Amino acid sequence: MERTLSIVKPDGVQKHLIGEVIKRFEDDGLKVVGLKMISMDKKEAEGFYSVHRGKPFYESLTTFMSSGPVVVMALEGEGAISKTRELMGATDHKQAKEGTLRRQYATNIERNVVHGSDALETAAFEIKYFFNSLEMFEY
Ligand code: CMP
Repeated sequence: MERTLSIVKPDGVQKHLIGEVIKRFEDDGLKVVGLKMISMDKKEAEGFYSVHRGKPFYESLTTFMSSGPVVVMALEGEGAISKTRELMGATDHKQAKEGTLRRQYATNIERNVVHGSDALETAAFEIKYFFNSLEMFEY
């Protein structure tokens, strides 16, 4: 069974989309196996997005991601990574398919409501970044 990490970003929390995001995932058969609301400081956001260090959007992205509370969740299910990515839509909301979370709710390419891991290795790194074994569940 595959696991992935998703984040309702600060803009998603401000827009009261926590429930909507979780509902889309659950309705598609994904199981929430870890869940919490946190606030990252700049260093924690930089560590999370370290693969993007050096990119032009890195500074702004990590400032945004540490600007307010976020909801982090670990999701489990068959094809969890591709399922969440399908439901989120493309990073750039203008390219995202009709009906996807980002197409419906994103403000711009940075404030795009939700994050999801893009591969098995990144999912493992990202889940471990936020959850210890006592915070992950099987049911
Ligand atoms: P996310 O899926 O969280 O992964 C990296 C984030 O960087 C992305 O969503 C966007 O919020 C942000 N970002 C800003 N500009 C870009 C860009 N040009 N390309 C990719 N990601 C970007």
